[in-house]
Amino acid sequence: MGLSIEGRLVTGRTLRKTERELHFNRELFVGQRILNFGCGGSNISNEIRKAQVNAELVVDFDMHFDPSNRIRKFLTYPLHEILEGTEMLTDQDSRIHRTSVAIRRRLGNIQNRTFVQGDGRNLPFEDNAFDTAIAPWSTYQIPTEAKRQVFKELLRVSKATFFFPIGGDDFDILQQLAKDNGYEIIYSGSHLNKDLKINSIEDYDAFRDSYTENQRVQRPSSNPTSVIKLGSKILGARVEGNLVIMRRKLASQ
Ligand SMILES: C[S@@+](CC[C@H](N)C(=O)[O-])C[C@H]1O[C@@H](n2cnc3c(N)ncnc32)[C@H](O)[C@@H]1O
Repeated sequence: MGLSIEGRLVTGRTLRKTERELHFNRELFVGQRILNFGCGGSNISNEIRKAQVNAELVVDFDMHFDPSNRIRKFLTYPLHEILEGTEMLTDQDSRIHRTSVAIRRRLGNIQNRTFVQGDGRNLPFEDNAFDTAIAPWSTYQIPTEAKRQVFKELLRVSKATFFFPIGGDDFDILQQLAKDNGYEIIYSGSHLNKDLKINSIEDYDAFRDSYTENQRVQRPSSNPTSVIKLGSKILGARVEGNLVIMRRKLASQ
């Protein structure tokens, strides 16, 4: 079995950086229910609130418990570890467990974060619970054998999903899921495309109708999931893998 990096590399991009990489504008979120999948230390639910973008709901979701604790509050890391240990050993409904969680959220200054812990293989949300899901720098960590399941779950719970970065094999799975589940691929290509901007839900159709399918949807030429390629990304080299934007087909299509 190869080296699994699932959940091991945790970063925390800002909302601004995520908007730039995924080519949407926060205005897209107005009135919407949003899932930030594999949020790591990115605190988009709080940033959206602070920016007074009137989203209906923004959920930061990750397999770890509030990973932003670890990134932002490294000075209190040992205390977080003790509290995390306490929570592992106590019943979720017990007073000590709840007190420990409350202390940890206060230490991490994340009381206002809308966070749900769980595994992408089995998302604890209903079908269509979200208008938009974003999965920046998270699905590349999913082991190959679980990719299809996680992608399927993301498409199940959301009407539109932004994935980045996506390699050739991932793309093949997404393309098949799109066919089987009534999705369309609005875009699959470089995240440096200057002509792509999704600022409102009308922009999906506007972008799709401005280009032929061959121009908009390209299969990535490589699989950017190896640690070496990611290493080159961390060192500032070219990002491999596509930005893929998918949307559930409208009833009229
Ligand atoms: C590199 S971080 C990216 C964080 C953030 N999205 C960003 O752009 O900075 C990847 C995150 O994906 C999460 N992750 C990986 N596999 C997951 C899974 N199966 N379910 C939920 N979260 C997962 C990891 O725990 C980690 O916090």
